[in-house]
Amino acid sequence: MVAALAALDTNPAVSAEIPRRAVDFDFDPARVPQDWYANDPYITSMLDALSLLFPEGERFFVDSVKALRHHVRDPELDAAVDGFIGQEAMHGREHRAFNEMLLAQGFQSSVKIERQLKGLLRLVRRTLPKRQQLAATCALEHFTAMMAESLLRKEGMRGGMDATMRPLWMWHALEESEHKAVAYDVYNAAGGGYVRRVGIMLVATVIFFAFTLWSQAHMLAERRVLWKPWRLLRGFGQLWFYPGWFTRLVPAYFQYFKPGFHPNDRDNAALLATWREQLFGKSGELKQYLRGAYA
Ligand SMILES: [Fe+2]
Ligand SMILES: [Fe+2]
Repeated sequence: MVAALAALDTNPAVSAEIPRRAVDFDFDPARVPQDWYANDPYITSMLDALSLLFPEGERFFVDSVKALRHHVRDPELDAAVDGFIGQEAMHGREHRAFNEMLLAQGFQSSVKIERQLKGLLRLVRRTLPKRQQLAATCALEHFTAMMAESLLRKEGMRGGMDATMRPLWMWHALEESEHKAVAYDVYNAAGGGYVRRVGIMLVATVIFFAFTLWSQAHMLAERRVLWKPWRLLRGFGQLWFYPGWFTRLVPAYFQYFKPGFHPNDRDNAALLATWREQLFGKSGELKQYLRGAYA
């Protein structure tokens, strides 16, 4: 049974070309409002908490892919891995700059949260075999891909962002969608299999939400609104009540449990083409931040 499921779970690599863009955003603590998402402390602190996880989390993703890339035989996938590594490294750099801005705005707990995450990831690196680590990356890349696609598709989600913050989050969403299949294809090339993939997804889901909500609670406490439910209700409803940001992702989340699932089952080629043009095309809104491609 396990072998049959594993056989179903080895789709061929279908990762497309992944461009490496060098960007340099401007995070001025004086210009970015403290509650930069629609003046809403709940949603802003959730996004801040996610940003605090990105630099170390994405470094873990890169290391887990590098550790098993020697299994990759397809030159196209090998090139896609280079693109994936380049994109994630740049995300880490820009989110680190964003996180330093949070510190400059007085959010001292950001240091503690990043230290705790480092400790958690050190434990994972020491105790889990490489294929399990890569399965964790695949699980969390599914999360980032779902959230990124939502952000690209839903004007209602983008609309609340302060203009100073939109470049970072739209650029990151585009690139998460571009490379959503790379870790998964490397996992398949390394013979990862179905049971490990979905088992790790269940564990990763619990740990991801526990850590993110814990981090968000710290950020809310520093905003002095953690115990003021009337300030949190609107944002809480927008994220968790159907069709909230997270609740509307439930069907896409469960697709991951299908034997034979592949991230590219959800074809987003047209969406990516639109956003590449809008952000980095001839009159792209982020062209001013682009410092070129890098090798
Ligand atoms: Fe990323
Ligand atoms: Fe990613």
